[in-house]
Amino acid sequence: MKCKPVSAFRVEFKFYRYAAPALTDQYDHSVANLDDLLNVEEFAALAEAKLEPAAYDYYRNGSGDEITVAENITAWRGLGLRPRVLVDVSQRNPTIDLFGQRVAAPLLVAPTALHQMADPEGEVATGRGASAADIPLVLSSLSTRTIEDVAAVTTSPLVMQIYIAQDRDFTTDLARRAQAAGCRALMVTLDTPIWGTRERDIRNKFHVPKGMKIANLERPGQPTGHRGSGLGEALSWTIDPSLTWADLETLARAVDIPVWVKGVLRADDAVRAIDHGAAGIAVSNHGGRQLDGTIATARALPEVVAAVNGQAPVVVDGGIRRGSDILRAIALGATAVQVGRPVLWGLAAGGAAGVTRVLELLITEFSAAMALAGCAHIDEITPDLIAKV
Ligand code: FNR
Ligand code: LAC
Repeated sequence: MKCKPVSAFRVEFKFYRYAAPALTDQYDHSVANLDDLLNVEEFAALAEAKLEPAAYDYYRNGSGDEITVAENITAWRGLGLRPRVLVDVSQRNPTIDLFGQRVAAPLLVAPTALHQMADPEGEVATGRGASAADIPLVLSSLSTRTIEDVAAVTTSPLVMQIYIAQDRDFTTDLARRAQAAGCRALMVTLDTPIWGTRERDIRNKFHVPKGMKIANLERPGQPTGHRGSGLGEALSWTIDPSLTWADLETLARAVDIPVWVKGVLRADDAVRAIDHGAAGIAVSNHGGRQLDGTIATARALPEVVAAVNGQAPVVVDGGIRRGSDILRAIALGATAVQVGRPVLWGLAAGGAAGVTRVLELLITEFSAAMALAGCAHIDEITPDLIAKV
């Protein structure tokens, strides 16, 4: 397939995109035309046209046969809704308090790695975009910009995602650095003893592109991640297969900000997490990138909500693509949802403005879904809105 360079930045970083068909050419880098994109799927199509193919594959990848990637989406859609009628929904309030701040909707940007593959400013653009939409950002440990650079531009709540590395002191320092930079919480990812096998990355010999760095994890003698034949080889030094609950507890004691956990899918693990210091739970299967065949998060959520029993907030991610999916998640007892890939598509399509537009689309859809379901307030989004199968 023919490729052509699209900007000085992309040439410098050896970024090319396919010679685009007419549809994508008409959007090209024009931010104004982002308003013409009506839903997350249309952003995904534009992102595919703009991204270097190995970067697009890394973002969209799941592990194995990508069963869980698909299930995450279809499970939400399979939850039939039972709207109430004749409720006054003329004044709706989709806002909630999260991390000590009122935010626009029960929605967070999930942590995803390597944003400079989508935009030259990387996570700084994401921070600006999320702030303009009044939505919290969970910054990946594997970001291409430093916590401090992102914190400097982010006015919505900023949370730092943590992979506990083999060098525990390094991770403790990183956690304290996040706290000093003003992060409201940490979110420790529990579902990566090793990386899932992502065959597209192996085929593409994916590695951290030259000219980019894993900005928060640099230290002398550290492998750079610029080589390899898949995520495993490129980034395995950032995680540790020997982790146990005691490591979570040690980290939670080392900082003064709340420590959330991410990657819980079972009631018993949710209870253990709280027993070991977790202040919040993210139900997640890592967007289908770890154990393929893992149940969809829509199916895992109810048992976790029941086990947590109001002791801590529960957020959920995986396959949220519509405002009606947010409604479904809240109806099942989630405090909020996180979106991963949709934000990457917005960033690739239009930088910070693309991130804002994707988030605002989801907020607008959510508010409309509230109206159509007969809910003026978040606490009216109750389990009876979901049909029993
Ligand atoms: C992720 N995810 C992730 N999670 C995490 O804790 N730390 C990370 O660095 C990353 N990196 C990452 C990169 C990419 C490209 C993707 C797609 C995902 C998982 C992420 O936080 C979230 O769980 C899923 O993306 C949610 O699914 P959706 O919204 O992408 O379907
Ligand atoms: C991923 C890691 C970085 O899923 O969490 O690619």
